[in-house]
Amino acid sequence: MENNEEGLINRERELNSLLEAVRKLDDNRGKSFIISGEAGTGKSYLIEHLKQRDELKGIDWLEGVCITREGVPFQPFKEAFKKKTDPKSTEGSKHISFSLISYKQEKGVNLFDSSKPDTIRESITTIRKMAEEKPILVVIEELHWADKSTLLAFRYISERIKDMPMILIGTYRPEESVDFDLLDDTIHHLGQREKAEKMELGPFDLEETKEKVNSIVSDTFSDHFIETLHNKTRGNPLFITETIKSLKEKYHSSPESHPENITPEDWPSTVEYVVKRKILKLDKKTRNLLQYASVLGERFEYGILSKFVRMNEMELLDCLDEAIVKGILKEVEGGREETYRFTNSAIRDVLYISQSKNKKKLLHKRAAKLITSLNIDDLGDYRFDLARHLENIDARNEAAKNYLIVGEMAYKNGDHWKAIKMFNKVKQLGKELKDFDGVWEDYANILYDFGCSLDEGHEKKIDCLKEAFDVFKRLGKDTSMNDCKNALKDLEKDNLYKEN
Ligand SMILES: Nc1ncnc2c1ncn2[C@@H]1O[C@H](COP(=O)(O)OP(=O)(O)O)[C@@H](O)[C@H]1O
Ligand SMILES: [Mg+2]
Repeated sequence: MENNEEGLINRERELNSLLEAVRKLDDNRGKSFIISGEAGTGKSYLIEHLKQRDELKGIDWLEGVCITREGVPFQPFKEAFKKKTDPKSTEGSKHISFSLISYKQEKGVNLFDSSKPDTIRESITTIRKMAEEKPILVVIEELHWADKSTLLAFRYISERIKDMPMILIGTYRPEESVDFDLLDDTIHHLGQREKAEKMELGPFDLEETKEKVNSIVSDTFSDHFIETLHNKTRGNPLFITETIKSLKEKYHSSPESHPENITPEDWPSTVEYVVKRKILKLDKKTRNLLQYASVLGERFEYGILSKFVRMNEMELLDCLDEAIVKGILKEVEGGREETYRFTNSAIRDVLYISQSKNKKKLLHKRAAKLITSLNIDDLGDYRFDLARHLENIDARNEAAKNYLIVGEMAYKNGDHWKAIKMFNKVKQLGKELKDFDGVWEDYANILYDFGCSLDEGHEKKIDCLKEAFDVFKRLGKDTSMNDCKNALKDLEKDNLYKEN
């Protein structure tokens, strides 16, 4: 397959909308757009694709970026129009520069001169003239950093753009905004009066994720891998791109590290950086709280959290609120009490990893203690958490015991997959057969039953039966051992299995 890393995935509707506006410039009709989306959803990428289109050839493309809220007034607009107002600018065509000099000489107009009270109004008169000579497309990126004057100019132009051959595009990241008020107000105002078209860029779905992966590497990956990747990145195009690029480097230099199993440590630093910036924007208390919460897991209950962090209740609620507003946590319905979860497991992983080893250990210890002291008969889901915490403080024996209980419960409830997974955990912890007398026979029985129940040809069928055979053999259970052998022989007859 031909790899096309530069291809634009999914944003057809948005691109068409923008191109339609470009076409209308010929009739002297202009339009404003506001594109929103979290970091990495492809706002700049979409604009870059628009810029490359043939339709944009006769149009002056101007760009500015908002840098700080307390910066020079109108700084991004000044930057954008510099190409046209600076006669020395090599980029601006001679014709335009010349006409601007004449605007200046005739009217004494300086675009966005903050020392003049009427500067926005005057500037727009000049811009209108420029646009009538040659249509203009202005992009103002990162509006969440815009100062008041820039937002006012954006609004003022948007309200008058309809009969000007000009397009104005603003982008912003909702989660970056510290003080939403003015930006919110501007966007709301423009939206209500249909002065600007709002576009929200969302995450990729599974198909789009797959498409993006295939545009970077031609290797085929299992559906399971794509699902994990999608889940880990929450479909964020940047996360997907960076993850695949870094994995590609890794396994191309050492093929045995094929990325079918992404672990938190595999997250490339760029993704970590994107997430870290998001986290750094938070109030310090919220950040600390989230780090603690990351130890509890991808989801956690309010009651446990409040005991775990020992914070003043109002403060805790405020922090949780901030985390929700910033898109880091979500409330989950249907738990036995209020439950929260991280919107993105990459965010949880980064929060978790960014703590010292020692701190994590202490926190796991505290969490284990807390769960043990809960004093409820049926630990239920907490049991698995408990096992995980114990594992993290190297209490292997205790951890294994709890995984085992989770496994047996799962078996009783008919969840064989989970049961086998839990037993495997126990084995990973290095528990010898003799350590859990009696239990292993259960395990082998589950494996046998389960193996028999799977369809012929199921990849796990043979694994289960073989493993059951091994365990029965070590336990000296001859009858059961023979049952396994016969089941495997049947498969052999059908050429599905070859004993070696
Ligand atoms: N529609 C898309 N199709 C393919 N790749 C995309 C798309 N959107 C984003 N990407 C990938 O994600 C990266 C980050 O996008 P970017 O435009 O920088 O995000 P934003 O400006 O919203 O923060 C891009 O460099 C590109 O690799
Ligand atoms: Mg961008």
